Amino acid sequence: MMKVLEKQRLQNQIALVTGASSGIGSGVAKALAADGATVVVNYASSASGAEKVVKEITDMGGKAVAIRADVSKEDQVLEMYRQILEQFGTLHILVNNAGLQKDAAFVDMTLEQWQYVLDVNLTGQFLCAREAAREFIRRGVQPEISKAAGKIICMSSVHELIPWAGHANYATSKGGVMLLMKTIAQELAPHKIRVNSIGPGAIKTPINHEAWETPEAAAKLLTLIPYNRIGEPADIGEAAAWLASDESDYVHGITLFVDGGMTLFPGFTANG
Ligand code: BGC
Repeated sequence: MMKVLEKQRLQNQIALVTGASSGIGSGVAKALAADGATVVVNYASSASGAEKVVKEITDMGGKAVAIRADVSKEDQVLEMYRQILEQFGTLHILVNNAGLQKDAAFVDMTLEQWQYVLDVNLTGQFLCAREAAREFIRRGVQPEISKAAGKIICMSSVHELIPWAGHANYATSKGGVMLLMKTIAQELAPHKIRVNSIGPGAIKTPINHEAWETPEAAAKLLTLIPYNRIGEPADIGEAAAWLASDESDYVHGITLFVDGGMTLFPGFTANG
């Protein structure tokens, strides 16, 4: 079981992790809590998943609460922030993690499939980042808590860079996240708000279970990963905790790929 760390880099900080009831989001929530943050475990539909994550965190001596909101709906995002500010007074860290796939061949993709993915993966990040930035600007820097007024971490993907046939909606959303992140990093820096992305590769979660659950699928997937192992949510959690901490205070406007080398074009190892 996970334990709270001795050196807690995120003490006295409130963190919101969207889409934290499973997968990468739950790994990030646990890592931030282990580092001392009080974590808001946001979820859209799985209350039981969110409660499980909250329990894992409180069992290890950390602090967490679950709050429901569909990040693609403005009224629900505003209501979630209202609850956070009422309960905790402020927010220091946003991990814009909620995301999903609705895969289809391009010629078969419905407008609904396209729109749904863009709404959650891109508009959801816009809405949550805007509300976080408003609060960070209102409060300003609290030097005893962090060098920055706030930290925004966007969950992107290797597919902000690597085109992905059969996933035009998803790849487009992540390409959008890349320029949303960089643009707001440029715009919010004078307010001492740090904005970065994490670009996970293939991480073992429900979103891509088909890609790793059989030995044949896993072997095929590993041909795309030079480091030769499939990632775990904790790999992303560690990166998020570092990006949220003052140890990365001069890191701003980047995508940190955490992908075992997936973005190294491994197809060219013995070719080209
Ligand atoms: C996708 C996964 C995929 C991984 C690597 C992620 O962004 O959500 O389904 O396995 O990229 O291709």
